[in-house]
Amino acid sequence: MLFLENASAALLTAEYAITNERLSAAHAAMTRHSVRSYLDIPVTDDELQTLLELTGRAPSAFNLQPWRFIVVRDQAIKNALKEAAYGQKQVGEAPVVIAIYADMDDAMANLAEVVHPDLTTEKRASTIAMLENNFGGMTPEARANWANGQANIALGYLLLIAKSEGFDTSPMLGFEPDRVKAILGIPTGATITAMVALGRGADDGFRSHRHAVERTTRFR
Ligand SMILES: Cc1cc2nc3c(=O)[nH]c(=O)nc-3n(C[C@H](O)[C@H](O)[C@H](O)COP(=O)(O)O)c2cc1C
Repeated sequence: MLFLENASAALLTAEYAITNERLSAAHAAMTRHSVRSYLDIPVTDDELQTLLELTGRAPSAFNLQPWRFIVVRDQAIKNALKEAAYGQKQVGEAPVVIAIYADMDDAMANLAEVVHPDLTTEKRASTIAMLENNFGGMTPEARANWANGQANIALGYLLLIAKSEGFDTSPMLGFEPDRVKAILGIPTGATITAMVALGRGADDGFRSHRHAVERTTRFR
């Protein structure tokens, strides 16, 4: 169990254990579809903890991890989110809706959290100063865009990990951000990266069609 030996303390607290029931990354990538119809099967606290801990393993530039999550299981809140999402039925039907947002103000106010603990005191201080200088020179809009790019890495992780762990998802950008922020108490300066409906699908979604490698890639 090399993975467990190297796992973070946080991951160990979730008592995460590798079993053969999980899909490989390749299998999950090939079989994941957006699913917009859900069975009424709850997602447990432990399952959510595992999904969020694994999602939090996503990399980010400077390890800044500006992504934040709000996990919604309350039906009344899901109903309100559904209205803010133009009535998309998966928002009300899935047992869980996760709002992923990027909060650069929070990240900037807590830079010491993300600087590697193995650095010397001097190196930690100079790294924090470099980050303050780097991001302090950007406009709030540019910072928010940058953080949203990082949070999209976590979104990709969440979608793939959820499939690997036996769940289906529906990522969404079709919603009124200001309304969703008001419902969930997300800071106005934050950017909502996506809402994700999550649970056990009642169907398999649409068959995927994707570009071939030749369409998207040039080798030089
Ligand atoms: C960031 C993002 C936002 C999306 N927004 C919506 C949405 O609001 N409503 C919806 O039904 N599907 C939405 N989708 C799903 C896409 O249409 C879907 O991922 C794409 O057609 C590929 O299909 P697949 O997910 O089944 O592979 C979104 C997907 C992503 C990644």
